[in-house]
Amino acid sequence: MTSPLSKRYGETDAPAIALNSPAIDLMLNHRSVRGYRPDPLPAGALEAIIAAAQSAATSSNLQTWSVVAITDPAVKAECAALSGGQQHIAECPVFLLFLADLARLNRVADRAGLPHAGNDTFEMFLVAAIDAALAAQNAVMAAEILGLSTVYIGAMRNRPEDVARLIGLPQGAAAVFGLCIGYAAEGKGGAVKPRLPQEAVLHHGRYELEKQDAAIERYNHAMAAFNERERVNTTTPWTVHSARRVSGPESLSGRHVLMQALRRMGFLKAE
Ligand SMILES: Cc1cc2nc3c(=O)[nH]c(=O)nc-3n(C[C@H](O)[C@H](O)[C@H](O)COP(=O)(O)O)c2cc1C
Repeated sequence: MTSPLSKRYGETDAPAIALNSPAIDLMLNHRSVRGYRPDPLPAGALEAIIAAAQSAATSSNLQTWSVVAITDPAVKAECAALSGGQQHIAECPVFLLFLADLARLNRVADRAGLPHAGNDTFEMFLVAAIDAALAAQNAVMAAEILGLSTVYIGAMRNRPEDVARLIGLPQGAAAVFGLCIGYAAEGKGGAVKPRLPQEAVLHHGRYELEKQDAAIERYNHAMAAFNERERVNTTTPWTVHSARRVSGPESLSGRHVLMQALRRMGFLKAE
């Protein structure tokens, strides 16, 4: 039987360790799902998922994130359109929009009669985006523990101001990504996608760049085998695919002007 570590890295690059942790196995078994049954989440699941999300660490306990749960088919369809037509958003029963949320902290400061110019910095946008990401990953793990599937939607940053209008965001709040949640449709459960060998990612004491080349080359082979196994219609090596993703501003699906949009949305005014 293939171990969870071998599935994650391929047989040759799996770390030679014996793991006996159902919780870590669950993490190793993660896969994004892009096809959902219409069935709703069980009662209480959303609240349990959000409780897990709120249990993530949060910078200075500021809790500078929020989440908007969307179940209205018309609003999900609009989100799908804003993401360039990702139909899994319309299909899934619950679509979560994770927000970098400085609006609440601005209001807390206003009501306390205190200034909040610190929120106008890049640092505080980053704090809020990190908080949102940490919370969301706890949500993903909680969903998977409950037998649900997920996929993140970074494309919600393609047209951030349209997303903000759609869900009524005040100044100082922005959706940093979405998350589809639901039961995987028949045959759409996805597969464990290999990750880079640890040799490329884990550094001991000192960062090494050039030494990663061999591991990256092996990863090209692991991804090619994955694509063939899963009948992914591509022969493009991972290195070329990844380089193309950053080849120019136009390859960022409109997000190359994100900072200007964020300024109009009430962030980064001091920068
Ligand atoms: C922040 C973030 C944004 C993402 N945005 C999208 C997206 O817009 N559409 C999509 O289909 N997958 C999206 N993904 C999923 C990634 O493509 C996926 O995690 C990656 O290919 C690895 O596959 P796996 O999650 O199945 O292991 C996103 C993932 C992250 C973390």
